[in-house]
Amino acid sequence: MREGIDNTDNTAHYPSLAGRAVLVTGGATGIGASFVEQFARQGARVAFLDIDDAGAQALVEQLHDVPHAPVYLHCDATDIDALQASIAAARAQIGPISVLVNNAANDVRHSFAKTTPADFERNIAVNLRHQYFATQAVVADMRANGGGSVICLGSTGWMIKNAGYPMYAMAKSAVHGLVNGLARELGGDRIRINALIPGWVITEKQRRLWLDEEGEEQIRRSQCLPGHLQPEDLARMALFLGADDSRMCTGQHFIVDGGWV
Ligand SMILES: NC(=O)c1ccc[n+]([C@@H]2O[C@H](COP(=O)([O-])OP(=O)(O)OC[C@H]3O[C@@H](n4cnc5c(N)ncnc54)[C@H](O)[C@@H]3O)[C@@H](O)[C@H]2O)c1
Repeated sequence: MREGIDNTDNTAHYPSLAGRAVLVTGGATGIGASFVEQFARQGARVAFLDIDDAGAQALVEQLHDVPHAPVYLHCDATDIDALQASIAAARAQIGPISVLVNNAANDVRHSFAKTTPADFERNIAVNLRHQYFATQAVVADMRANGGGSVICLGSTGWMIKNAGYPMYAMAKSAVHGLVNGLARELGGDRIRINALIPGWVITEKQRRLWLDEEGEEQIRRSQCLPGHLQPEDLARMALFLGADDSRMCTGQHFIVDGGWV
């Protein structure tokens, strides 16, 4: 049992997710792996894209007991041709996509002063561009299904004016624009699009790279709720947004940050 989360299990079950085709980008590790696991445990048919083959394989092995084994497809989401081909391959294996989780990203730190145009293009490609094109690639499926749900991962990092990653901040702020810019256009077909906004989620990567005593102190001071946000805390909200329970929610920004101020 992780901090405050009892997997034995008193959390919600969503019957509408059973058998539903769910696609997660960047699903091999971190929060994305929790999306894959939690949707799969609801009985969904999950496919996930990533570049981390070892992480993906470990996840698939770990999920040997779910109703439908998750399907892993190696895909660099910055390559839009490869992204479109992988989405077609996922569709062939799990059926027309009903839920898309636009999760892949890299919060790599970078210098504002030293940014080149090529750095800029690379950063936008990994943190924003694929969200737009993956959404474009699943809309026909969702339309044919009579609706669907697109969940776009944002970040509170830019909202609280964190320094050290201005391009990442800019890309993540644009996720709000993507959601607001498409909600009406897609809504007529009952395709919902929402932003899911994590605070500081203590994944293995965050623990390895960034969490130190100062960070722990910052969490104690800034969150209203004690303890570390876990990937599962984000996955619980994603399940709700993927399920019929959220049928009238679109164009919204759902923040899960422990009440960070
Ligand atoms: N962890 C946090 O505190 C936090 C805070 C705010 C927002 N977020 C957002 O939540 C989402 C998940 O965060 P995380 O911490 O698990 O991220 P992470 O960096 O730990 O994992 C992202 C996943 O995406 C994959 N990935 C990276 N580049 C890729 C590419 N080019 N093509 C395909 N896959 C690629 C990685 O291999 C990894 O499995 C991201 O969108 C992130 O921006 C996270």
